[in-house]
Amino acid sequence: MNYHQPVLLNEVVNLLDPQVGQTFLDATLGHGGHSIELLKKGATVYALDTDSENQKIATDRIETLKLSKNFHPLTGNFSNTLSLWKKHIKKPLDGILLDLGLSVNQQSGQGRGFSFHDTLSLDMRLNPKTQKLTAEEIINTWDKEQLYELFTKLAQEKLAKPLIFEIIRARQIHPIKSGKELGNIIENYYQKKHYSTRHNPATKIFLALRIAVNHEFDNLKKILELSLKITKTGGGIAVISFHSGEDRIVKQFIIKNNLSSQKILPTHTEVKKNPLSRSAILRFYKNN
Ligand SMILES: C[S@@+](CC[C@H](N)C(=O)[O-])C[C@H]1O[C@@H](n2cnc3c(N)ncnc32)[C@H](O)[C@@H]1O
Repeated sequence: MNYHQPVLLNEVVNLLDPQVGQTFLDATLGHGGHSIELLKKGATVYALDTDSENQKIATDRIETLKLSKNFHPLTGNFSNTLSLWKKHIKKPLDGILLDLGLSVNQQSGQGRGFSFHDTLSLDMRLNPKTQKLTAEEIINTWDKEQLYELFTKLAQEKLAKPLIFEIIRARQIHPIKSGKELGNIIENYYQKKHYSTRHNPATKIFLALRIAVNHEFDNLKKILELSLKITKTGGGIAVISFHSGEDRIVKQFIIKNNLSSQKILPTHTEVKKNPLSRSAILRFYKNN
């Protein structure tokens, strides 16, 4: 199995500084890359993932490594952390990790709709059992004002207006059903206008759709507010974000609460080894 490569792993472990007998919440378990290191240091880890497939991958992996003794997987969205904490954890934590975004299998897997190479789907729900709105619905039913807001505010897309025009024209002929179809519309427009970009021009729009489908900003705000209520004084909270809007939310939260914090970026060596880390920003703050 091609496990997700954890981003800023050493930095996160050094900052959280897990010790035997301490308890952490990994609110974004993924494939368990970060949790495994916390468990190896003798800490207890409660771990959440809203995607049951990833939850199972990580749980099996941790069992194979014989690290399950102090590992407690909990399925659910971190926006529901308070009720999960009250039910299962019940005591103040020594630290929390949030490694936002997607794991590699979600990002590139066929049938999930997150990628502009996906020929099967334009879904983008992290948990199709508990969520209704899909990216396909947004692209095919939202009116041009709603799409304009999404493309400008979340994607900061300079060509929002003409791209929305192209999308509406395409969907009038037949519904846009896959990441590939949507990606092609965006790419073809950029090519037609001879605009060159460093990364695929569809990247920003896909990210914005994912954020909207999964209410990522609201969920993040909720858990940040909660983080100070469920950690001990001196407990550390590490947040890795991959989008300037997400990072702004974390930064503003730190300023608003007058918290001592650090900002850390991946090294050149890490970005070279793992290009998916290129946009990562780690912010670490303490509950004081
Ligand atoms: C970048 S991956 C985490 C990778 C992990 N740190 C590792 O090293 O394997 C993010 C994970 O968080 C999960 N996730 C995203 N938003 C979530 C939310 N609101 N609640 C729970 N899990 C979420 C995703 O399903 C994904 O598995």
